Amino acid sequence: MRRLRRTKALRELVRETDLSPRHLVQPLFVVAGEEVREDVPSMPGIERFSISELVAEATAVQAAGIGAVTLFGIPAEKDEAGSGAYDPEGVVQMAVRALKEAHPDLVLIADVCLCEYTSHGHCGIVRDGEVDNDLTIELLAKTAVSLAEAGADVVAPSDMMDGRIGAIRSQLDEEGHSDVAIIAYSAKYASAFYGPFRDAAESTPDFGDRRGYQMDPANALEGVREAKLDLEEGADVVMVKPALPYLDVVRRVKEETGAPVAAFHVSGEYSMLKAAAQNGWIDEEQAVPETLRAIRRAGADLVFTYYAKEATAWL
Ligand code: PBG
Ligand code: ZN
Repeated sequence: MRRLRRTKALRELVRETDLSPRHLVQPLFVVAGEEVREDVPSMPGIERFSISELVAEATAVQAAGIGAVTLFGIPAEKDEAGSGAYDPEGVVQMAVRALKEAHPDLVLIADVCLCEYTSHGHCGIVRDGEVDNDLTIELLAKTAVSLAEAGADVVAPSDMMDGRIGAIRSQLDEEGHSDVAIIAYSAKYASAFYGPFRDAAESTPDFGDRRGYQMDPANALEGVREAKLDLEEGADVVMVKPALPYLDVVRRVKEETGAPVAAFHVSGEYSMLKAAAQNGWIDEEQAVPETLRAIRRAGADLVFTYYAKEATAWL
């Protein structure tokens, strides 16, 4: 077996899994205000940008060869109903307009959820101490439409309410946005690896946790069922999240649906690698491509990763 491993050229001839910038999606945080560019302490190398800084960052992302970004917003104010999420002048809606104008070819994926906008930090409307599914999906559909109206190419619901894909699809179609695609966070696990994201988005729930709607890490078959349901309801791409601890789910979803599959290499996965690299414990330039290639090898067509821009230099 070693004959084909002797030189780089030989290895490349028989390489099974391709990893290139076109497979990667860069997540970006957008904050209210002007001339803001602030570090996220638990995610070294990641910043939160106000709109003009975001547009400049998108230029750099595109120059690195990345074709798509996904946007998370941090509004100036939060309330019980998460109204910043579906405000036509909301932080992400404004960012989408600015990015579309400056970078018409960049694929704009807008995250759809309420947790960054609710005062309690849950992904929906709270009634009697629990997130109410059906009240929430109405607001998610409204959010998706407002993001489509602003110019988003893709909406990506990350809330894990039941029936939201169908509700969003029909609302988009009714309001003239039948060409806006949906990347569904289908198998999204209740994971400890979201910690740094919640710092960045200021979205840690102020009571309880998200186990009442996100998936139990023990369940793989359920992840496949979630993906199939989302496809029936009109999803164009199904996602598994986080990535590395759930590569078996990525593989099963790919094999059982044949649909385009995304995997989200989440904030905690990023920060673990960063921290080890900064301590000199691992070689980042080797470890990051190995990690991203493993996610592709498991069956992911596209990989959402905070490393997207930086990793292009190492591919
Ligand atoms: C919630 C949401 C989460 C992430 C993005 N949107 C998870 C959560 O807070 O439960 C996590 C992303 C990451 O960790 O990189 N809608
Ligand atoms: Zn949420």
